[in-house]
Amino acid sequence: MRKILVAGNWKMNGDSAANSELIGGIISGLSGIADSAAKPDVLVCPPFPYLAAVREQIAGSDVQLGAQNVSEHPSGAHTGETSPAMLQEMGCTYALVGHSERRALYGETSEQVAAKFAAALAAGITPVLCVGETLQQREAGNTEAVINEQLAAVLDNSGIGAIASAVIAYEPVWAIGTGMTATPDQAQDVHRFIRVVLEAQDADVAAGVQILYGGSVKGDNAAGLFGMPDIDGGLIGGASLKAADFLAIVEAAATL
Ligand code: PGA
Repeated sequence: MRKILVAGNWKMNGDSAANSELIGGIISGLSGIADSAAKPDVLVCPPFPYLAAVREQIAGSDVQLGAQNVSEHPSGAHTGETSPAMLQEMGCTYALVGHSERRALYGETSEQVAAKFAAALAAGITPVLCVGETLQQREAGNTEAVINEQLAAVLDNSGIGAIASAVIAYEPVWAIGTGMTATPDQAQDVHRFIRVVLEAQDADVAAGVQILYGGSVKGDNAAGLFGMPDIDGGLIGGASLKAADFLAIVEAAATL
């Protein structure tokens, strides 16, 4: 059975004091959830400057550390970028690649995202590959074509075997930060589609990979989403910034 993963994407929010309070709250809340097969894995992705401090604070807890982005290059003249090896050294076990904000605001192409995916994997970091369509693409009936293109870039570059060491996050762009969550059925349809695309190449990989949903997940809609057969947790933005909100989602997952 696939485990549920609840991942917090803090985006460009927080400061030392707020992060410390947030992590403290998450750790103490998690310790109150009984260990069971249903207890989800928990991941936080703080902004880069805070990775070291968060790493120190989560030491010995069940919270894992991830990066919000990673360079596709190993080193050298790339001002402002952070290599996979640097993130690995800072204790990151996951890195988001291809978040829609990176694609839309910073011009990341699917080929570049595929290169980031491969670079993260090569450094021993689990890439969380974000895919998703805009409202315009959905309304034009292009959702599956868009997702297929985003997946194909990674499959062509790294091969299906690499997906076994990755996580996929379906995040419809129209649901991110808008309060407009996809319904469980809408999300399930796309998650199923993703699994079918992967199944065509390797049924075991398709059955094993965690596919998260992201886009306005909150404590009161998480159980409905995570209860769907192909949804294995969430990538949480706004609701990952307050311990109580984030824990409500973790608790909803733990009851499934
Ligand atoms: P949201 O963000 O939960 O605020 O919609 C999700 C994301 O962008 O990962």
